[in-house]
Amino acid sequence: MTARSPRDWNPEAYARDAAYVPVLGHDVLRLVAPRAGEHILDLGCGDGALTAELVAAGAKVTGVDASPAQVAAARARGLDAREMAGDTLTFTGEFDAVFSNAALHWMRRPDAVVSRVFRALRPGGRFVAEFGGAGNIARLLKGILAALAARGIDGAPLVPWFFPTPEDYFARLTTVGFEVHSMEHFPRPTDIGGDIEDWLNVFGAAFDSALPESEIPAFHADVARRVRGDLFDAARGTWWVDHVRLRFHAVRP
Ligand code: BEZ
Repeated sequence: MTARSPRDWNPEAYARDAAYVPVLGHDVLRLVAPRAGEHILDLGCGDGALTAELVAAGAKVTGVDASPAQVAAARARGLDAREMAGDTLTFTGEFDAVFSNAALHWMRRPDAVVSRVFRALRPGGRFVAEFGGAGNIARLLKGILAALAARGIDGAPLVPWFFPTPEDYFARLTTVGFEVHSMEHFPRPTDIGGDIEDWLNVFGAAFDSALPESEIPAFHADVARRVRGDLFDAARGTWWVDHVRLRFHAVRP
């Protein structure tokens, strides 16, 4: 995922409060079906949890991420990880596959990303990814924007994510020359395994940046109060997030 403003990722908080992200990445890992000896690029590798699984499958893997802190965490696992954003990838014809989980929605210049990925692949190489599609976290986002509005802030320009429709991303992929072999758009309500305020601490920096530091805890508590009816499962005592996934397999002819 790309680096955030105003603060970088905190790999310890990410590993603790977003542990479900790599766990839920296993379906897209199966879709990329890594083979021993293949050269694979993990785009938006984060702390390298899934990069390590690609390596364990026998692939030679390069991870890239725009966050210096996450790249350091991936290197600490012994992985080849480099600081690089998706829209400025510098590779040419080097990879059998480009894999990406839960990262493309942070990349706000999608046309630059898909054309750089296309260039990074060998002919016949595949681009296999999953990320937030249209409608992703709509209920949570509604609560965040309402809590900001209650503080006199228009949060819409602060939204740091890009959640496209399948038609939108299909068109971007085919425009640069990809053949799209599959594309799915589906709801995947996700038990986040912790508190919604922890989710806001890990992922909500763009909204926090509009507030004085001292007001952030009350803002998070207000968001939690607003979304509790929709996103808290009282019977189980667990929070969930209304994820909608876009998952695709495209090939460079
Ligand atoms: C997602 O995986 O859909 C997501 C994660 C963090 C922030 C926004 C979306």
